[in-house]
Amino acid sequence: MGRGVAQSFHLYLHIVFLLLLCLHESCCTPSNYLKVSVVMDKMVDALLPETSPTAAPQPLLPLLAPSPLTPFTNSTVPKLSGLCMLNFTAIESMMSVTSTDCMAGFAPYLANVVCCPQLEATLVVLIGQSSKDTNTLALNGTLATHCLSDLEKILVSQGANDSLPNMCSIHPSNLTEGSCAVNDVSEFESTVDSSNLLAACGKIDTVNECCEQVCQNAISDAAKKLALKAYDLLSLDGTHALSDHSTRFNDCRSIVLRWLASKLDPNHAKEILRGLSNCKINKVCPLDFPNMSHVINRCSNGISNQTACCVAVNSYVSRLQRQSFVTNLQALNCAASLGLKLRKANISENIYSICHIGLKDFSLQAGTQESGCLLPSLPSDVVFDQSAGVTFLCDLNDNIPAPWPSTSQLPASSCNKTIKIPALPAAASGQSSLDMASRDSLLLLVASAAFIILT
Ligand SMILES: *[C@@H]1O[C@H](CO)[C@@H](O)[C@H](O)[C@H]1NC(C)=O
Ligand SMILES: *[C@@H]1O[C@H](CO)[C@@H](O)[C@H](O)[C@H]1NC(C)=O
Ligand SMILES: *[C@@H]1O[C@H](CO)[C@@H](O)[C@H](O)[C@H]1NC(C)=O
Ligand SMILES: *[C@@H]1O[C@H](CO)[C@@H](O)[C@H](O)[C@H]1NC(C)=O
Ligand SMILES: *[C@@H]1O[C@H](CO)[C@@H](O)[C@H](O)[C@H]1NC(C)=O
Ligand SMILES: *[C@@H]1O[C@H](CO)[C@@H](O)[C@H](O)[C@H]1NC(C)=O
Ligand SMILES: *[C@@H]1O[C@H](CO)[C@@H](O)[C@H](O)[C@H]1NC(C)=O
Ligand SMILES: *[C@@H]1O[C@H](CO)[C@@H](O)[C@H](O)[C@H]1NC(C)=O
Ligand SMILES: *[C@@H]1O[C@H](CO)[C@@H](O)[C@H](O)[C@H]1NC(C)=O
Repeated sequence: MGRGVAQSFHLYLHIVFLLLLCLHESCCTPSNYLKVSVVMDKMVDALLPETSPTAAPQPLLPLLAPSPLTPFTNSTVPKLSGLCMLNFTAIESMMSVTSTDCMAGFAPYLANVVCCPQLEATLVVLIGQSSKDTNTLALNGTLATHCLSDLEKILVSQGANDSLPNMCSIHPSNLTEGSCAVNDVSEFESTVDSSNLLAACGKIDTVNECCEQVCQNAISDAAKKLALKAYDLLSLDGTHALSDHSTRFNDCRSIVLRWLASKLDPNHAKEILRGLSNCKINKVCPLDFPNMSHVINRCSNGISNQTACCVAVNSYVSRLQRQSFVTNLQALNCAASLGLKLRKANISENIYSICHIGLKDFSLQAGTQESGCLLPSLPSDVVFDQSAGVTFLCDLNDNIPAPWPSTSQLPASSCNKTIKIPALPAAASGQSSLDMASRDSLLLLVASAAFIILT
């Protein structure tokens, strides 16, 4: 079945984007819907108007009609290699979350923040859980190839994008021991302080872990011990070309994560792994900055023509934002990076303030410029259900102006408590957990795309 069948039924997947705007969790009633509904049958690229640099920015829809349409409703049963002995049953529900997080047309827009971190976690949990039977925390090259391909087939059969390994740069080698020569569970446990590791990482505070690094330090300690041992083993052996220390450390770190995932139940392991990857994700801006010479031309020399400058800036930012959804902390990084580039080009006025650029302007927009979807710093998984469609949470914490960098250096990290980050959402500034009810200062946008299948 699958694609071929879907096509032969001439199914068209149309997407209705509903934006549910609620001021407080208590007011989430249908009357508070801000409903932006657009039905389309074109591919994403066709949807994105080629704005000329001087045209006013067009509102963008992050959507998403995956054309030849993917069957979201009926999972097909894929034909597996029969050669991968990993226990897929143990991660069944996790795979279904992963398929939705990486859903065909959505995947490229969520790759960096949701889809790829979830896919990586899935692989770690798969190998970790299977190690309970196999006693090993790594696969050999042959098995790795079969197992990755089988996992991919299962995910695609459940609606995931079919180029995930490429999109997330995952290769069979990522399932092997790499240059970390320690992969046997009992050898692992005799090498590292496993009870300390489990104590530090069995439960993490997803908000504070990024700054306090309790679990991350324990993982690094364990990976260092393994890397030392691997070095000894490989030097003794003499047949291996020794890889450099940082590669070995990273390969051993993967082994540590898999071991952790074998000691926790899959859901719990997923929370921890995603929490750790969020720390990494939120430190950078995932967007590419294309040629900004047009902005520089229009805005340099003391901004002789403010209108022309702002048109150029808005157009540039709206081109940026088509790349991906970003988290609120990523948007801060993006604002800083762009600001620095402009400062380096001798633009010293606060362009963001002059042109009213906000943090949300760095993330994909839905409907109007005002309803940009900035993901929370701990992004939720995508949820698909037949009636509501595709749902994920956006953070609509009013319009936070993008901070213009005050020096020509990147701002201090958000961990530095003496630095005030303007009105960041609670989850980002460390006062809130994932518990929705406690986020009363947040506006939540539930972006819900309902799929209407027309025959
Ligand atoms: C999905 O499966 C149901 C029952 O299994 C079937 O009635 C329906 O036609 C299938 N839909 C598609 C699109 O294949
Ligand atoms: C696979 O995992 C499931 C769930 O954890 C478990 O019940 C089952 O025994 C495992 N299968 C094998 C072959 O180990
Ligand atoms: C899968 O993602 C790629 C980008 O890596 C995109 O070009 C392609 O259209 C997506 N596939 C589907 C079926 O949407
Ligand atoms: C890879 O591992 C599997 C299972 O442990 C084993 O049967 C197979 O012979 C190994 N292949 C190689 C090339 O070592
Ligand atoms: C997979 O391994 C390659 C090197 O073999 C590395 O560049 C890449 O980052 C790894 N991917 C992940 C998701 O760890
Ligand atoms: C940027 O674009 C301008 C004009 O459009 C061009 O002259 C310049 O070479 C480009 N710069 C880069 C780095 O591509
Ligand atoms: C400023 O630029 C705008 C748009 O490019 C143009 O319409 C306007 O005439 C310019 N104003 C001046 C004073 O040059
Ligand atoms: C910026 O201004 C300084 C001093 O006015 C000048 O030396 C430098 O070349 C300018 N840089 C750029 C990129 O225009
Ligand atoms: C935090 O920022 C302040 C002000 O920029 C700086 O003086 C201080 O050294 C920073 N602290 C750390 C731990 O980076």
